[in-house]
Amino acid sequence: MRDAHFCPPRLAETLVEGEAGSYSLRSQTKMAQYFEINGGKKLKGTIEVRGSKNAATPILAATLLTDKKCTISNIPLIEDVFRMIEIIKGLGAEIKWLGKRKISIIAKNIDPKRMDYEAVKKMRSSILLLGSLSARFDNFKIPYPGGCVIGSRPVDTHLSALEKLGVKIKQLNGFFKVDSKNCKANEIVLKEFSVTATENAMMLAANLPGKTVIKIAATEPHVQDLAKFLSKMGAEIKGIGTNTLEIRGRKELKGATHEIIADANEAATFLILGVATKSPIRVKNVNIDHLDLVVEKLREFGANFKIGKDYIQIIPPKNIKAVTKIDARLYPGIPTDTQAPFGVLATQAKGETLIFDSLYEGRFNYLKELKKMGAKARILSKHQASVKGPAKLKGKIITSYDLRAGASLIIAALIAEGRTIIKDIYQVDRGYEQIEERLQKLGADIKRAESTKH
Ligand code: EPU
Repeated sequence: MRDAHFCPPRLAETLVEGEAGSYSLRSQTKMAQYFEINGGKKLKGTIEVRGSKNAATPILAATLLTDKKCTISNIPLIEDVFRMIEIIKGLGAEIKWLGKRKISIIAKNIDPKRMDYEAVKKMRSSILLLGSLSARFDNFKIPYPGGCVIGSRPVDTHLSALEKLGVKIKQLNGFFKVDSKNCKANEIVLKEFSVTATENAMMLAANLPGKTVIKIAATEPHVQDLAKFLSKMGAEIKGIGTNTLEIRGRKELKGATHEIIADANEAATFLILGVATKSPIRVKNVNIDHLDLVVEKLREFGANFKIGKDYIQIIPPKNIKAVTKIDARLYPGIPTDTQAPFGVLATQAKGETLIFDSLYEGRFNYLKELKKMGAKARILSKHQASVKGPAKLKGKIITSYDLRAGASLIIAALIAEGRTIIKDIYQVDRGYEQIEERLQKLGADIKRAESTKH
């Protein structure tokens, strides 16, 4: 396994407002940024959930399936999305910002030879280009994806799924060399429940005439959102939200207009934040159906909720009680992406909570940082940990090893007594849009700073 702490250097993008409501991306190399947080404050007010990261990246990749115009709104303004947009633009797509979170894409004159290999190598979700480019081009090459290492993250399921659809893939010097001349619809049994492998197979199948059946398909809300987008483009998809998808594709897909769903992982992060800090915050723009088990688990910790049409208001517990276990699973189970925030909550709960994460081998690094702050946690194996509480957390200098770990450490710092410095916050920027500004509105004492020191 590679160094679990490895992450690529950051070339940050920012969205810059121009004249007459136009927007553009501007690259900037940033100095090391960190969050400085003074914890212990109760929070109150409303926090809005942005569009789903894990729906936005595959949907952006899917716009390459057609040479017609696609319009996508509710785009979260985060690093992973900016990188995907830059890669698509680099291929030759015409991109216009129509508003702060809305873009149009015309991928008419794209050419895989123009691909920015360095950008592709820095991002895990660039693997999603494999499916859409296989649909558009007979031959191309693309580097292995990058991204943060949270365990061994193979791509064998992607490759075997595309191969079942007739794509020939050779691996040479860090590249996939793809020959997709003889693609055809087929039945696929995925080797593993994998979100992005399901998405890659769906994108190619959407473009193949005839019936493709994908078994062992992932059912996460973002997979469903991609399926809805592909349906708008003209594919007929049955079984959306189930483990068997039946796709009747079309050679010519249409342009489509789509609004990205709300990010369930972000919503869960904010709900856990509210419960852990015992703050009566309101989390707005949520799709409650995507959060069933998260909410149920939080009730088990002692929280209560007022649930409205598109919001969840937290009624904080007086005492937080440990739960028997947090078992991160495939949807509709507790998402692995919320395992770390739940781990922070467990530090505040009376008793022992066991945590299981069967998907990843490297998602417990945040516990090492929490222990520096005074948490009583033990990593029992690569997939299992135990947290005992309640623990009085104290502010420390800590590091954000991956995206969800970073968000979780923010929660810990907001609970802790004193000042916490969280380093490597580009990890958080990959998935949470200007999180410090949104938390400040709840009364949190958090600021972004940069220095050569931290
Ligand atoms: N796996 C394989 N073979 C494959 C692909 C995956 O064995 O070819 C296994 C992995 O070993 C792991 C599991 O399947 O046990 C998930 O693998 P992977 O990391 O490849 O999942 P993914 O589909 O690429 C998406 C999200 C992740 C999220 C997982 C689980 C995107 C872009 N990424 O990853 O999001 O944790 O599904 O829901 O959608 C995040 O947002 O922080 C994040 C990491």
